[in-house]
Amino acid sequence: MFSELIAFIRRVYGDPAGAIPLHAPTFKDLERRYVLDTIDSTFVSSVGEYVNRFEQDLARYTGAVRAVATVNGTTALLAALRLVGVGFQEEVITQPLTFVATANAISHLGAKPIFVDVDRDTMGLSPQALDAFLTESAEKRADGFSYNKKTGNRFAAVVPMHTFGHPCRIEDIVEIASKWNLPVVEDAAEALGSWAGEKHCGTITDIGILSFNGNKVITSGGGGAILTNNQTLGERAKHLTTTARVENSREFDHDEIGYNFRMPNLNAALACAQLERLDELLAEKRKLALSYKKFFDQITWADFAEEPEGTRSNYWLCAVSFKNPANREKLLEALNAAHIQARPVWKLMTELPMYANCQKGPLNNAEWLSKRVVNLPSGVQCVA
Ligand SMILES: Cc1ncc(COP(=O)(O)O)c(C=O)c1O
Repeated sequence: MFSELIAFIRRVYGDPAGAIPLHAPTFKDLERRYVLDTIDSTFVSSVGEYVNRFEQDLARYTGAVRAVATVNGTTALLAALRLVGVGFQEEVITQPLTFVATANAISHLGAKPIFVDVDRDTMGLSPQALDAFLTESAEKRADGFSYNKKTGNRFAAVVPMHTFGHPCRIEDIVEIASKWNLPVVEDAAEALGSWAGEKHCGTITDIGILSFNGNKVITSGGGGAILTNNQTLGERAKHLTTTARVENSREFDHDEIGYNFRMPNLNAALACAQLERLDELLAEKRKLALSYKKFFDQITWADFAEEPEGTRSNYWLCAVSFKNPANREKLLEALNAAHIQARPVWKLMTELPMYANCQKGPLNNAEWLSKRVVNLPSGVQCVA
């Protein structure tokens, strides 16, 4: 049943003899030059020009007023949540279909994640489910904030995620959240190069984040960034992620408990080179996604996940959803035997032991997707 797909993937990847990974980075001479430049300069650590340059280039590319580079996407999310005021024992609404870092960043602040359903088409947080959950569970108090009727805790933020780079219905989410005076922090870890209309993912709300982990569209080895359109938040983000050091002070002067989350210059050098190649990588990814789409147009047992209408996805990881979940397991076995790496979508957060007892809404779509979705090899070669 799956031999056609195996042959198709081998053909797309030039029929290499070895294994085909899910998503491997590609590097050219530019990356080598910039990294060697930092080594030669000795500025490999937390001070150096590549960090400033990467932040400026990233802000220019995304249209954000400010980009602040961090050691990874998880710390960027943690800092962004703290910057919008999420505190200990407060509650943050997010989606159960996500990588564990989304829920972990919330938990690292001592806050509690609450899981609300996703839409089937975008695989991101559902505005309808959010609206229904808040209408049933929230009350607005005289202080202007919204509280959970069940626990009495404050709802402190909403964190939608742009799954596999497909933009979720972010404008509708913002509209609903604003009725309850809730800031929206976009987890755009997977969505560099994805646009919801004219706006880049991660720049649509007050604050968002990106990841440059090795498996992302571009990588800095490990890395992340906070994006914001609010100058004050941007300055606060820089301050908080660089140990809250008072700028221009000659002494070690720090004015709050900050974090050492700053991206090292060595990683930023790699990131600068990769960002220069982003358009080329995105074009290749789109070509690959189109080939998958054409292939799955002829197939009856699974549907290819296309970019939602009105958006442009980076197609970070190409995904298909199986009509019959039992066939998913068979495909995973067949691909594995053929040394082609494919991966079932994440287990829902509510199935993980540390989040099993968190409050949640009805999760019909997330449960439906979690049994059916598979990611197929999505790396692009861009031969040097
Ligand atoms: C949805 C999502 N959020 C957060 C992260 C965290 O990023 P990082 O691995 O850079 O910490 C990732 C990816 O790795 C992710 O996919």
